[in-house]
Amino acid sequence: MLPLSGNSSPAEHHPKKFKASELFDKKNSFNSLLQQFHHQQSRLWLLLVILCLQILLLFTIRFLPLPLPPALSSSTNRIHRFPAVAVSPAVNDGDNCKNGRIFVYDLPTLFNRDILENCDNLNPWSSSCSAMANGGFGQRADSLAGIIPENLLPSWYWTDQFVTEIVFHNRIMKHKCRVSEPGSATAFYIPFYAGLAVGKFLWTNSTAEERDQHCRMILKWLSDQKYYKRSNGWDHFITMGRITWDFRRSKDKDWGSACIYLPGMRNITRLLIERNPWDYFDVGVPYPTGFHPRGHDDISAWQDFVRTRRRTHLFCFAGATRAAFRNDFRAVLLDQCRNSAAEKCRVVDCAGSRCSNGTSAILETFLFSDFCLQPRGDSFTRRSIFDCMVAGSIPVFFWRRTAYYQYEWFLPGEPESYSVFIDRNAVKNGTASIEAILEKFSREEVREMRERVIESIPNFIYGTGGVRDAFDVAIEGVLRRFKEQEEWEYKWK
Ligand SMILES: *[C@@H]1O[C@H](CO)[C@@H](O)[C@H](O)[C@H]1NC(C)=O
Ligand SMILES: *[C@@H]1O[C@H](CO)[C@@H](O)[C@H](O)[C@H]1NC(C)=O
Ligand SMILES: *[C@@H]1O[C@H](CO)[C@@H](O)[C@H](O)[C@H]1NC(C)=O
Ligand SMILES: *[C@@H]1O[C@H](CO)[C@@H](O)[C@H](O)[C@H]1NC(C)=O
Repeated sequence: MLPLSGNSSPAEHHPKKFKASELFDKKNSFNSLLQQFHHQQSRLWLLLVILCLQILLLFTIRFLPLPLPPALSSSTNRIHRFPAVAVSPAVNDGDNCKNGRIFVYDLPTLFNRDILENCDNLNPWSSSCSAMANGGFGQRADSLAGIIPENLLPSWYWTDQFVTEIVFHNRIMKHKCRVSEPGSATAFYIPFYAGLAVGKFLWTNSTAEERDQHCRMILKWLSDQKYYKRSNGWDHFITMGRITWDFRRSKDKDWGSACIYLPGMRNITRLLIERNPWDYFDVGVPYPTGFHPRGHDDISAWQDFVRTRRRTHLFCFAGATRAAFRNDFRAVLLDQCRNSAAEKCRVVDCAGSRCSNGTSAILETFLFSDFCLQPRGDSFTRRSIFDCMVAGSIPVFFWRRTAYYQYEWFLPGEPESYSVFIDRNAVKNGTASIEAILEKFSREEVREMRERVIESIPNFIYGTGGVRDAFDVAIEGVLRRFKEQEEWEYKWK
């Protein structure tokens, strides 16, 4: 269903002798460099190649073709593009918008407000109106009473996973660096609800034309805008509230819309809940969870709550057990979980769409577990990663693309400090027992990892504006990027 390009390195290798003169030759030299990279075992080579890559990147970045060759861009991403954001819940009021100012387009209502007003038919099954309520947070989660502290109930909602377009739009209208004059802006926000607009066409027998219509219209509209024409889109950004693969249809009959591939879209920075790690313009932002703190007090009360809980289970797995029959790996995890002693692993069966808005059973399970298993689902990421971490549970990953290559701005820089990575092949062939691996961590190590998770909660949740949260981290990241693009003349054809 999904056009996922694998992790395989580009094509076959033709090892060549490394020559400095080749470096500045042409973009192909990147590939030969990479082939060296794959073939040389020695550390020295690795160091040398990384060093050269950095130098090369500075010199040749503007000549890179898009999409970037996988191995190259994933390594450059790690080297250059995603400086880890320091975990700090404090709003930095002192900076006076030194990284830039934002202009928000006042779009024709068909691109946002009309879509919300049609919330009754945003998907083929049911009305989304209650899910879109409260600024996109959804209905208040009153049924969590008894599970979470009484005074925190008002900060919990049944939030749908596909609402970032609404959340970002609401917040950016109130941003302290928003300007009403485009002339003084360095960043331009396009409040088009691309994901909500395409939602109802995804599962019906719709034509490619229907699925692309809104996106074509917005690009047409943009193409007449002075500031869009000025930059070719390089200082424009948009939130697309679904995974990137929903917007990357390359053949008419395939899944999704072709929005990201349409002419005019290429240079626009896109905030997505799952990015294509090999596309510079895709930025991964956290899935929304149900926690929307009103301020510092809510955050610290919640952090204390999850820090001091007694956790009765070593690990847990929340997933669709029916899907397990189609997906080998999930079935293996389920087996391992079910075969563990009662106190070790807890399962939540998410058959149907029971887990889609984070039910109380799921939150409870995460609150009772030290670790949560996070295999890939239909795509590499799942909302469950954030449901798990917001509950102070430590995520266990089996694919690096599930989090490490997705949310670099929002999660701690050292993966092993807040998560566990287990080789899925060793689990599949029966040589690794998840229970045994997780039990090896001492109480102190578990406590430290959990503390890193809890510290980063403010960075990956969406609050109401009183506290620096995922929205602020994302906007800071975008402004920093646009500034660097200008300073380094960092634009390529
Ligand atoms: C979210 O899930 C709960 C529990 O299944 C349900 O009661 C509630 O109506 C759902 N809310 C929305 C907005 O879908
Ligand atoms: C979908 O629509 C196309 C063209 O409108 C039609 O040929 C096809 O039979 C339809 N498929 C289904 C499953 O309804
Ligand atoms: C993207 O930017 C490059 C470099 O500025 C420009 O040549 C190209 O036409 C732009 N693409 C689109 C679709 O605007
Ligand atoms: C199982 O998989 C791991 C990881 O890929 C590998 O190192 C190991 O040799 C495999 N063992 C067997 C018995 O296949």
